[in-house]
Amino acid sequence: MKKLLVLAAAASMMGLATTGFAFGNPEKGKEKSQVCAACHGVDGNGVEGQTTYPKLAHQVPGYIAAQLKDFKSGARQDPIMMGMVAALSEEDMYDLDAYYSKQKPAPVGIRPEDEELARIGEKLYRGGDTHYGISACMSCHGPTGEGIPIQYPNLSGQHADYIEKQLVAFKDGTRKNDMMNPIAFLLSQEQIRGLSLYVQGLRSDHN
Ligand code: HEC
Ligand code: HEC
Repeated sequence: MKKLLVLAAAASMMGLATTGFAFGNPEKGKEKSQVCAACHGVDGNGVEGQTTYPKLAHQVPGYIAAQLKDFKSGARQDPIMMGMVAALSEEDMYDLDAYYSKQKPAPVGIRPEDEELARIGEKLYRGGDTHYGISACMSCHGPTGEGIPIQYPNLSGQHADYIEKQLVAFKDGTRKNDMMNPIAFLLSQEQIRGLSLYVQGLRSDHN
């Protein structure tokens, strides 16, 4: 019995070493997500009219757990979310991550009157700006915005208002990230809105 337990512990540690993060249980995550549904939607596709509350469906595995840990440690600040994570254990965070990352995205697109501004975003997203030294967003978030597990979040179909709020927070340093802070710092308000609209219109159908 003792030997079996030791073996199980060794196996789970090896799992951690090769994947870089623990896998949660999506069924348990679904149960635990009930308190989140009012703001993030039952399937993580958001709530009508709450466009500064992010969609969580189809997020790259590992990213949601990492953000929940950051809210809990205070590394990422948000008055609502800091309250929400207070009672979550690390296991809860991985279960929630496993549930949301498996949910199908429900893309919304953008309004025709926003397309012109979105084209400014598209140019930057795909090509960056060599004159100002702005990297192409695509190089880290993928050509269709699907992200790269576990570090680079999926942006495709995310609410433009939420994306804009995050880019402004990265720009003024209230949200901290070594990669995003210097990039956002260089963006103008118009570029931020254009990028946000472009990203909302992106679709990715991986999984
Ligand atoms: C009362 C509304 C509310 C509830 C309930 C809520 N959230 Fe949030 N959540 C927010 C808001 C607002 C933000 C955006 C914070 C910001 O702008 O930085 C957010 C952000 C997040 C993020 C960051 C997403 C990203 O793309 O970076 C995650 C992950 C998250 N919430 C998970 C959860 C989970 C899991 C629960 C349930 C345990 C939950 N939330 C409950 C309002 C809520
Ligand atoms: C060098 C890699 C890299 C490049 C280039 C990059 N990003 Fe990011 N981005 C990241 C990382 C890493 C994160 C996750 C930050 C965290 O963990 O808090 C991120 C997070 C974000 C978020 C927050 C998403 C969320 O769900 O909260 C947005 C919005 C974003 N990036 C937009 C952009 C845009 C727009 C561009 C191009 C102007 C861009 N990024 C270029 C690495 C990059």
